[in-house]
Amino acid sequence: MLATPESGVVLAHLSDVHLPLPARVDWRDVLNKRALSLLSWRRKRHKVHRPEVLARLVTDMKAAAPGLIAVTGDLTNLGLPIEYDRARKWLDALGDPDRVMVIPGNHEALVRGAWETGAQTWRPWWQGDDGGGFPWLRRRGGLALIGVSSAVASAPGRAVGAVGTAQLDRLAGLLAQARAEGLCRVVMVHHPPLDGTVKARKRLLDAPALRAVLAREGAEMVLHGHSHRSHHQQMQTASGVAPVIGVPSASATHPEPAAYHLYHIAPVAGGWQVVLTARRHTTDGMETSHTATHHLARAHAAP
Ligand SMILES: [Fe+2]
Repeated sequence: MLATPESGVVLAHLSDVHLPLPARVDWRDVLNKRALSLLSWRRKRHKVHRPEVLARLVTDMKAAAPGLIAVTGDLTNLGLPIEYDRARKWLDALGDPDRVMVIPGNHEALVRGAWETGAQTWRPWWQGDDGGGFPWLRRRGGLALIGVSSAVASAPGRAVGAVGTAQLDRLAGLLAQARAEGLCRVVMVHHPPLDGTVKARKRLLDAPALRAVLAREGAEMVLHGHSHRSHHQQMQTASGVAPVIGVPSASATHPEPAAYHLYHIAPVAGGWQVVLTARRHTTDGMETSHTATHHLARAHAAP
């Protein structure tokens, strides 16, 4: 029987921020896939992703004073250097990189080399405690926060992701290590790991391999973005059932209102309890759209 939590940490989760593009973008900078994405932004997406909506959401989130903030990718649209710079300023305003963490989405890697060029701009927000890259590990307040990159360039019209065998091998090691340390493992990846969550042209190509690692080594919770919709799913792991949670875009008015999540994660007898509060934007202000409580019974948790 899990007891009522008396302590713990609050982790905020937002995603798919899609900060506005500068008014002037040089067409010479947007060859190939970027040109299509720039057209899409100018025709449609700039009406969907609203900076004033994002600002209201961030103000509401800061009022909740979360100890940790996770941003699960797609801060940019075309992955241009100027967008990386603007997103860095946004991250700066969001909070200290010691408590704010970010992983990239497919838009950061819209064309080959975009993420590799821009990544250093955000480094303080995505490096692990050891200064290393993906998958990184940060230990905070009894949590093991693990960031995985699924950002890869794909053909026009596609927004697929891939984690790759090198990251998967290291992820297995980090999950095992964090389990041995009795930590609550929260894995972040931009693309949803469960099949059918998004259309095939947006899927995580090596999702079965990622799920196999999570299932074998165990995880307590998996957080993702990418779909711009709310998802509350779960998967079986060797350590127990893990919620797999997707948050809508933090700036969008469509297909779902902008939203973010707060997870109050607390140790309880025989595991952890996670209380999720989903806060969404409405024309009248922010409101709580739903709450959920997850009891995570785990043998490796401190008794
Ligand atoms: Fe995405």
